[in-house]
Amino acid sequence: MKAPLITLRNRKTPTGEFRVAAEAIAEILAKEALRRAHKEKITDTKKVILVPILRAGLVLLPAFMKKFPEAPVGFIGLKRNETTLKPKAYYQNIPKVSKSDKVILLDPMLATGGSAVTAITALVKDGAQEKNITFVGVISAPEGLLKLQTKFPQIDMLVAVHDEKLDKNGYIVPGLGDFGDRYFGTK
Ligand code: PRP
Ligand code: URA
Repeated sequence: MKAPLITLRNRKTPTGEFRVAAEAIAEILAKEALRRAHKEKITDTKKVILVPILRAGLVLLPAFMKKFPEAPVGFIGLKRNETTLKPKAYYQNIPKVSKSDKVILLDPMLATGGSAVTAITALVKDGAQEKNITFVGVISAPEGLLKLQTKFPQIDMLVAVHDEKLDKNGYIVPGLGDFGDRYFGTK
């Protein structure tokens, strides 16, 4: 297999190969998240809550469930409006979060940062401590990184690659297009 990120970036990659490459990156990220958890002496995976942002965050979930086998899973459904780029919330189901729980928020793309900020705001409102939240992504844009780090300076970040910028439509450059559409074969 070619380096998975090259496969993801190639707009001609068919859906099946895109899925394989995305899942390979998910494995690498999950392994690194587990390494960080062990470093923090977190051994009870019941104390780790996995929260994918629907839809695209679901791509990362199976690899993380394998590495954190007892972790409860919550869901936050957000859809970016393609004109305003503001996320619209359509679903939320977050399990009980205690102050000491570690929360791993999963979303492959950090573009304007609007979705991640909305999700973290909801997690903090539900009792998560900002310092106990890790954002896990595949690609980030500087605009999203800046927004996230400004609003939530204490969160931990685990992102495979930092890209150059956003284009005028709010897509990451060079990026890979719309992750959810490419993974789920909806475009
Ligand atoms: C994509 C992506 C992020 C969001 C990032 O989801 O998965 O959630 O956009 O953009 P932002 O940083 O500017 O908020 P999208 O809203 O397209 O929904 P989907 O996962 O259902 O495809
Ligand atoms: N969401 C995506 O899936 N891709 C982008 O480039 C920006 C937001």
